[in-house]
Amino acid sequence: MVKVAIVGCNGKMGFFVAESVESNPWTQTIFGVDAFGEKKYDFPVYKSFDEVTEKPDVIIDFSNPAALDGMLGYALKNRVPCVICTTGYSAEQVEQIHKAAESIAIFYSGNMSLGINLLIELAKQAAKVLGDSFDIEIVEKHHNLKVDAPSGTALMLADAISETLEQEPQYVYNRQCYRKKREKNEIGIHSVRGGTIVGEHEVIFAGHDEVVTLTHQAQSKEVFAAGAVNAAVFLASQESGMYHMGNLLSSKI
Ligand SMILES: NC(=O)c1ccc[n+]([C@@H]2O[C@H](COP(=O)([O-])OP(=O)(O)OC[C@H]3O[C@@H](n4cnc5c(N)ncnc54)[C@H](O)[C@@H]3O)[C@@H](O)[C@H]2O)c1
Repeated sequence: MVKVAIVGCNGKMGFFVAESVESNPWTQTIFGVDAFGEKKYDFPVYKSFDEVTEKPDVIIDFSNPAALDGMLGYALKNRVPCVICTTGYSAEQVEQIHKAAESIAIFYSGNMSLGINLLIELAKQAAKVLGDSFDIEIVEKHHNLKVDAPSGTALMLADAISETLEQEPQYVYNRQCYRKKREKNEIGIHSVRGGTIVGEHEVIFAGHDEVVTLTHQAQSKEVFAAGAVNAAVFLASQESGMYHMGNLLSSKI
């Protein structure tokens, strides 16, 4: 049984993680940490890591960048692996996460869906074959409450594709700002916002008289929670170091 602690357990994702841990026969939540809010769980919930007395096998974090110091301090002191899913860290905090990975196992990904990470791998393969002759455009769609654009996942896709191209491409977000023909060496990135769309990403490879499109649709936030719990089970037995969805995928492919 893998004993899990959930940071941000009173939030939207924290709730889905608690449900996902409970429905997995190999995992059990032993405590949660959340600075705010209230949700009734069977496990204890602490306001900060200073109050924690138990030691989990792994921490799953869907909270806020402000929680990073307390969590890493506890994890380093007690040698507990961390699955870090929170987004919006500063460059210094990302550096802090990489530094901590020298001593403990850390799984860090801005998108915990297995499907999205497979899409990234497929897009890289397609770019290797088609990248020289096809134009590449990415379209992402999200609900009307999302404030940032483009999505971090659209950028993850663009960065992964860029790695495989011979020439570094230019990302173009606002075509209405330029009255000129598309350059070959571009990746267009477009954002749609509306309704309750959980998250859709489409990579279009447009060639002469043919188009290849790769698409992923997240239909609920539960996919991210399920991915994080899978990652936690994987990470609990790993040595120190930085891990990401690619490691989990290659253990499955
Ligand atoms: N990696 C992924 O696949 C993925 C998917 C969905 C969401 N996220 C990210 O996960 C995070 C949480 O998302 P959410 O939708 O659940 O948000 P949310 O606002 O519903 O929940 C965040 C929780 O963190 C708690 N919190 C805030 N500051 C804290 C602190 N200093 N210490 C402890 N707890 C603190 C809040 O009280 C809240 O309960 C966001 O950064 C979001 O972008 C990542």
